[in-house]
Amino acid sequence: MTELKNDRFLRALLRQPVDVTPVWMMRQAGRYLPEYKATRAQAGSFMDLCMNPDLACEVTIQPLERFDLDAAILFSDILTIPDAMNLGLYFEEGEGPKFKKTVRTQADVDALPIPDPERDLGYVMNAVKTIRHELNGRVPLIGFSGSPWTLATYMVEGGSSKEFRHIKGMLYGQPDTLHQLLEKLAESVTSYLNAQIRAGAQAVQIFDTWGGALSTPAYLEFSLKYMEQIVHGLIREHEGRKIPVILFTKNGGQWIEHIAAAGADAVGLDWTTELGSVRARTKGRVALQGNMDPNVLFGSPAGIKAEVARILDSYGYGSGHVFNLGHGINQFADPEHAKVFVDAVHELSARYHR
Ligand code: CP3
Repeated sequence: MTELKNDRFLRALLRQPVDVTPVWMMRQAGRYLPEYKATRAQAGSFMDLCMNPDLACEVTIQPLERFDLDAAILFSDILTIPDAMNLGLYFEEGEGPKFKKTVRTQADVDALPIPDPERDLGYVMNAVKTIRHELNGRVPLIGFSGSPWTLATYMVEGGSSKEFRHIKGMLYGQPDTLHQLLEKLAESVTSYLNAQIRAGAQAVQIFDTWGGALSTPAYLEFSLKYMEQIVHGLIREHEGRKIPVILFTKNGGQWIEHIAAAGADAVGLDWTTELGSVRARTKGRVALQGNMDPNVLFGSPAGIKAEVARILDSYGYGSGHVFNLGHGINQFADPEHAKVFVDAVHELSARYHR
């Protein structure tokens, strides 16, 4: 296996010493980059891009050519699993993801197959292998999946949602049916992430984008419980190295102690929670990832640097912080401002690691 030339991302996730704070950006490969739009046009559709390992590899590497990032993230989508469960994923221009079939009844849940990742999601594993080969040890590769709850919101609603009318109707009207759906998803996500790790993913992140839409007891019962189950089923060491696991619940700040106790190495935070206070609350038991508001990139270079400085200071001295945006970079963000952000993290963080 090729030696990693830059492993500060993995080291920070394991709270080992680093020279500077590592940084990557959620959705770092995406429409804010003109070269991404060109490759996507060449592929045809977004899903064609995900399913073509060479082109998926190309867009994964694109942001690394522009910015001094400390990690690459597999180019794919969280909705590949429901697609492999035969729900028929498609994207309508400007409208986000949609499914041809929805999951609303016990019979719908019973009919869902549990995908075999090698057979049904082989294109993802091929992308992971191609990217690892192409990275040649430059930085680690992150694999990922959606959380069962977040995947279920798309499957039950049939696409993106603001109110979650159908899935909350199920949660409060047919909780046993929802639990069976989440159970199937937890099993699917576990084997999917393990297949990504076997294919070469060096860390994995679970995106719980919609956990924050739940009440506290509902979050613990319908989201965190299943992420915890997944964490305990994951391969935690591969190729002689630890495979760190990151849990990211958007708007999950008030549940940080619970999330930190779920067995993952790191917890991702959006910008609504103060990093320093979370570090105190979690007592150094986990690494923290985040948490600049992506819209700071719409401000000035001086404003971006000031915000990076503030966040570094909030975390304070020592390892255990991976800098990131608190959510995905916006498609209208200026790539020059993204560069200011990434460089500022490295420049301003050295003093916290002496
Ligand atoms: O971070 C990366 O660079 C890796 C790629 C990545 C994508 N989606 C590519 C993508 C990752 C990690 C995701 C995760 C994802 N997908 C999440 C969780 C993270 C989050 O944002 O909360 C969610 C909820 C999805 C579902 C999804 N996929 C939505 C809601 C959309 C539409 C978004 C939009 O802005 O229109 C997608 C499509 C998608 N996934 C795009 C990209 C680059 C844009 C599609 C395009 O090129 O047209």
